[in-house]
Amino acid sequence: MRETNANSIRSISITTPRSSSAYGIRIGCGLLGDLGGWVEQTVGKDVKRLLVVSNPAIFDIYGERAVSNLKRAGYQVSTWLMKDGERHKSLRSLASLLQFLSENRFTRSDALMALGGGVVGDLTGFAASVYLRGIPCLQVPTTLLSMIDSSVGGKTGVNTEFGKNLVGAFYQPKGVLIDVETLGTLPTRELTAGFCEAVKQGALSGNKLFRQTADFLRSHSPDNITEPDRQIELVNLIDSQVSFKAKIVKQDERESLDRDDAKSRKILNFGHTFGHALEKVTRYRRFKHGEAVGHGMIFAAHLSKILELLDQNELEWLNGVVHQVGNLPTLKDINPTNVLDAFQFDKKLVSESLQWILLKKIGQPVILSGKDVPSSAVKQALKKVLS
Ligand code: NAD
Ligand code: GLY
Repeated sequence: MRETNANSIRSISITTPRSSSAYGIRIGCGLLGDLGGWVEQTVGKDVKRLLVVSNPAIFDIYGERAVSNLKRAGYQVSTWLMKDGERHKSLRSLASLLQFLSENRFTRSDALMALGGGVVGDLTGFAASVYLRGIPCLQVPTTLLSMIDSSVGGKTGVNTEFGKNLVGAFYQPKGVLIDVETLGTLPTRELTAGFCEAVKQGALSGNKLFRQTADFLRSHSPDNITEPDRQIELVNLIDSQVSFKAKIVKQDERESLDRDDAKSRKILNFGHTFGHALEKVTRYRRFKHGEAVGHGMIFAAHLSKILELLDQNELEWLNGVVHQVGNLPTLKDINPTNVLDAFQFDKKLVSESLQWILLKKIGQPVILSGKDVPSSAVKQALKKVLS
């Protein structure tokens, strides 16, 4: 369900079969200015204490404003800052956060608030899911990726030495507040990475969202997306993107293993097999995740074309829009043999057989078992993207 009010604040409500109640996603500009009011509407006054989880880079910009607003609304507020970066989305950080909660006697009627990108959001959501077997969690995403993807849908977790997101839980937040104004301080590369995920969701959703995303990219440079006269378009785009993600989550909250239809949550992994391989073979140092997914979509489109699922025009359309997001790090020295090895690693993490998320058309994803995709086609597609 979607609502719009005169100040262009959008509200999307999301219900999943397992969560006890629906939760709301509020999207607008300058919403941090009424953070306390939103918390009160979302969890009420039964919650007395809030722990704001963030990192120093984000907290320096938004923390004081957020905390003082929450205090004005009558909440007792503490803060816990993790170190910045993917490698700190770890069991170690989780243990420190849980220790802080115990030492400070947080109870089940208190709540956690993630103020940050996907790293902060995934760690906070997971801590909320396990502390006292579950305490309320609020998501306040501050990167484009976390606004349109990670804060919505309840996937939480941390990385281990064996790989990314290997320990976690499905745990829906009580609410999500998206203040698009925070994107004004986001580094350009992070915006590019987020827009790659936006193109991905557009390519899965259909012509309407794909065109809306492409039109936005055509008419805005990353330096000006939050300027006042552009904010409404940004709010509209994020609203459409979140609505798409919410629809997928409603249909298949837990990414059922036995589903391979076009509405399965698995389709959100479009571009990820090659993307994960790129991240792995460059030891997570060269690509932001979204950038790797940008290359991954082009690889998946070539593979779809080689398998005669997708036609040349659609491939070129997707390729053109991916390139509008900005410069992606080079693939020049990537060794195809290493990529093929990394595909095997992805296969072991997912199931015995790799599943390829491919496209028949923009908006028509299809999931194929690795058994139905000849390795000669995979090698041919690799040659196309690495040449
Ligand atoms: P991130 O959280 O690392 O944030 C990127 C960088 O931007 C960080 O350095 C951060 O400090 C900085 N930053 C954040 N907001 C800022 C702002 N407004 N202004 C200035 N700097 C800001 O990266 P991300 O792309 O948001 O998230 C990536 C993580 O999300 C990965 O761990 C990935 O696994 C996870 N993820 C989870 C899901 C899910 O469904 N749970 C989906 C996609 C990705
Ligand atoms: N980002 C993939 C998912 O939420 O399922």
